[in-house]
Amino acid sequence: MDTLIKEKTGIENDLMPLLGTDHIEFYVGNAKQAAIYYQAALGFQFIAYRGPETGEREKCSYVLQQDKIRFVLTSALSPEHEIAKHVALHGDGVKTLALWVDDAFKSYQDALSRGAKSAFEPTTLTDDNGEIKMAAIHTYGETIHTFVERKNYHGAFMPGFEARTPNPKYQSVGLKFVDHCVGNVELGGMNKWVKFYQDVMGFNLLITFDDNDISTKYTALMSKVVSNGNGWVKFPINEPAKGLKKSQIEEYLDFYHGAGVQHMALATDDILKTVSTLRENGVDFLYVPDNYYEDVLDRVGEIDEDLEDLKKLNILVDRDDEGYLLQIFTKPVQDRPTVFYEIIQRKGAKSFGKGNFKALFEAIEREQALRGTL
Ligand code: FE2
Repeated sequence: MDTLIKEKTGIENDLMPLLGTDHIEFYVGNAKQAAIYYQAALGFQFIAYRGPETGEREKCSYVLQQDKIRFVLTSALSPEHEIAKHVALHGDGVKTLALWVDDAFKSYQDALSRGAKSAFEPTTLTDDNGEIKMAAIHTYGETIHTFVERKNYHGAFMPGFEARTPNPKYQSVGLKFVDHCVGNVELGGMNKWVKFYQDVMGFNLLITFDDNDISTKYTALMSKVVSNGNGWVKFPINEPAKGLKKSQIEEYLDFYHGAGVQHMALATDDILKTVSTLRENGVDFLYVPDNYYEDVLDRVGEIDEDLEDLKKLNILVDRDDEGYLLQIFTKPVQDRPTVFYEIIQRKGAKSFGKGNFKALFEAIEREQALRGTL
């Protein structure tokens, strides 16, 4: 009862009510080919398209969906286009973390009145399927948040896009929704952006990790997690901390040329099945040595899964006061060591796998050493 009252109060005081993540848009060098990776390897379905064939002369976009997760892959058709410049500088990366809201213009005006910088002005798009209202603000780096209102729209994605019939060959791997999206920001930027999410977006500071929590012999980082009023949108923000060698966050900032999205955690309710299919589909994951499994049950206690199955798939486990979670991280999904994915199954736990940080960062360091960037 206490919990219910508390949650209700939290929502009533919500400065910026969010219904969830609407979509995530990537600017990429070759959206047509990337769309095949997302379908064949990650189990997404191609549901809508915008490009020259639909009257769009400057860019091509592929909308890919798996349950509640919607990704848009966009490429420019000319070298002068801002998307081409974004890709030249950052490589393939996330441009937009779009937030699903009930009133896009109000969300935008409220954010501006609390200090946000406009990325684009309120816009209404219409077609035979209704209307979409949108407006956007800047966040870290060149990343933006678009507020999307779609309550009066019933088309495949948005006006301007044509629906596509998904290829039945590509089946879901069981990914359900975006659990959290992590940003890497420059040294000294973490607190600034946490304050932005608190003051402008009405988010709450959920957890703080310092370099004592997240450090190995060589590298360190600091992280704070902010979450919106109903807890459906969570943004951990990382910044590099001083270590003996270059941290994975510095490596990211060097290759991305600035702050940006580092990873998105995608939730499943059957991680064994999801990861086993992803592996069959050719997705590369970070490797954690077998000795991780020797004492993991001493640390996390009893779990429903068979330890041998987890070990075979290299899935990690952690526990907090409320339950446990299972997680695994892919290697970067483009040539630059920037964006990657986490696959997560929560069994009560609301945290982020702090008990796995050391094993994970050592795994990343082994990859950095191979790249010559440690
Ligand atoms: Fe994560």
